[in-house]
Amino acid sequence: MLRCKIIALTGSPFLHSVRLADGALRRPIACHFTKSIMMAKPARRPKRPEFSSGPCAKRPGWTLEALQSALLGQSHRSTEGKVKLKAVIDESHALLGLPADYVLAVVPGSDTGALEMALWSMLGARGVDILAWENFGKTWANDAEKHLKLDDLRLLEAPYGLLPDLSAVDFDRDVVFTWNGTTSGVRVPNGDWIAADRAGLTICDATSAIFCMDMPWDKLDVVTWSWQKALGGEAAHGMLALSPRAVERLETYTPAWPLPKVFRLTKGGKLNAGIFRGETINTPSMLCVEDALDGLSWARSIGGHNALRMRSEASLAAVAAWVEKTHWTEFLADDPATRSCTSICLQISDAAGLSDEDREAAPKKIADLLAAEGVALDIKGHREAPPHLRIWGGPTVDPEDIEALLPWLDWAFDEISRAQAA
Ligand SMILES: Cc1ncc(COP(=O)(O)O)c(C=O)c1O
Repeated sequence: MLRCKIIALTGSPFLHSVRLADGALRRPIACHFTKSIMMAKPARRPKRPEFSSGPCAKRPGWTLEALQSALLGQSHRSTEGKVKLKAVIDESHALLGLPADYVLAVVPGSDTGALEMALWSMLGARGVDILAWENFGKTWANDAEKHLKLDDLRLLEAPYGLLPDLSAVDFDRDVVFTWNGTTSGVRVPNGDWIAADRAGLTICDATSAIFCMDMPWDKLDVVTWSWQKALGGEAAHGMLALSPRAVERLETYTPAWPLPKVFRLTKGGKLNAGIFRGETINTPSMLCVEDALDGLSWARSIGGHNALRMRSEASLAAVAAWVEKTHWTEFLADDPATRSCTSICLQISDAAGLSDEDREAAPKKIADLLAAEGVALDIKGHREAPPHLRIWGGPTVDPEDIEALLPWLDWAFDEISRAQAA
């Protein structure tokens, strides 16, 4: 048997004629394929390597100067402090186009604090459907099942990459769901599946969706998010938006379990309106408040919610066009209509030609390699999800940086697959 070494650029083996020592041209019977030309490192680098899904990249052009006017060393209950907190509420309300009768508050504990505050304050009044298709939906389901111990609870689940059957949701019950499943990159396609004439409340964790996706406000009663996600603010504080029906629930229902102070939204059976004017339950960081205001001001300056959404969609479109022509990767989200434009999750495809073990190991190796190159930070998928790469494409990331990253992903895959084959 004649063995020969051939050079391939395409990554696929091919048969090759060889000239033997006697000058004869022979076609090899079996060919041992070795890729011996390395893919060159791309010339262009992302200008900013921050592609983390949270805390997310700061807005373009951000420097510490943006915090110059922070109210430091002074009370958040001073007149100036309250003005700044109210400005976060009013500017968020306006940017997102919240209906005039929806109230909004800054609350402790980031998105988790805001969402759990709603679960603890409102659930138990009627049956509950909880939708869980990735880590965060599962967290809220666990809260309801194991901690609140709700007896009338239906769990509608789907594995990573898919959505549960949305037509099975019963809107006579309360419904808890995540608009964008950050850890699988699967979002609900729209709000058409939500009943306009529902009897229950819809409680929506929208933290990785709200500034980048269209939210049908009339279909949502409780919506939560944080500052460090889509606008790249600093962590620790949550936002809680309530429809009039959600406020009515708070004022007419008392849960059977005790509520810690940081969850209490009512006083004497009435909504504690001060919280929704910036009189926070406990002490916020005024440095974070300043940064949140900076993020909102940037969002306004580029054209508001639509401009934020377009930037994020442009990043998704760039990745989708590249995935289309790339054999080794595919979206974790099965259905294109459910692909997130913020948490863009990519797994290694069958066509990559890796063993199961190598395939599992590949995302971390690619992420580590690109972090070491200073090209992309924090792009390894969430620890609870199947191994994948997760690239944040929210509005503070420049779509040109996403474009510049894509050839680097090819380069990193080439590097690690050659090393794995060796
Ligand atoms: C959908 C979703 N829900 C909840 C959380 C938790 O958010 P936080 O850390 O702001 O409480 C995250 C964080 O990534 C998330 O993506």
